[in-house]
Amino acid sequence: MEQFYFYQKWLKSNGLEHSPLKEKPSRSDDWASLEDEIAACRQCPYGEKRLHPVIGEGPLSASLVFVGEGPGREEDESGRPFVGRAGRLLRKVLEEMGQSPSSFYIANIVKCRPFNNENPKEEAVQACLPFLQRQLALINPRVIVSLGKVPGMILSGEKEIKITKEHGRVSSYSGIPLVLTFHPSFLVRPNGSSFIPSFVEDLKKALDYCP
Ligand code: URA
Repeated sequence: MEQFYFYQKWLKSNGLEHSPLKEKPSRSDDWASLEDEIAACRQCPYGEKRLHPVIGEGPLSASLVFVGEGPGREEDESGRPFVGRAGRLLRKVLEEMGQSPSSFYIANIVKCRPFNNENPKEEAVQACLPFLQRQLALINPRVIVSLGKVPGMILSGEKEIKITKEHGRVSSYSGIPLVLTFHPSFLVRPNGSSFIPSFVEDLKKALDYCP
């Protein structure tokens, strides 16, 4: 997990230790300029090769925000987050819990597809994290759900998280409750499906923060 020590070091050198999202947007920040900047960004190699940036989806007034790792093939092709197999599971579970897509926002740590679905490289995280910070500051949700280990560690600033043991724990991101849970791509695997009920419980915990 060497790369996470790098993130920690980088967050610290930017005054973001343990609370990477303390940065607030400037007064002039708004969605239109943020989306334009993301669309124009070529700061990391993923940006050069992407078909579409996957900025995020959902109402900007959402109380609940999900954060995944980065787009996969179907997301890259469509420009929409979580529309592949894992995303379909997430959306189905949410629908069964009575949550329509108009009740949550979904984004990712990186906006462009990591090569071969690798964990996003440090340089991509460095380039992209400020965009997510600005998204979260503008939305200012009641609760954030991190999907999987990578977004959990990056958003919480924690060095190591074992999701199978710690899922459902409420950490924090810039004062906002952060519920740690599984990445749905794990849940669609044969050895992951038995964790779906736990995933549902974690989501219920997040929904308790929503009006
Ligand atoms: N996995 C992610 O982490 N994000 C997506 O948008 C799709 C799959």
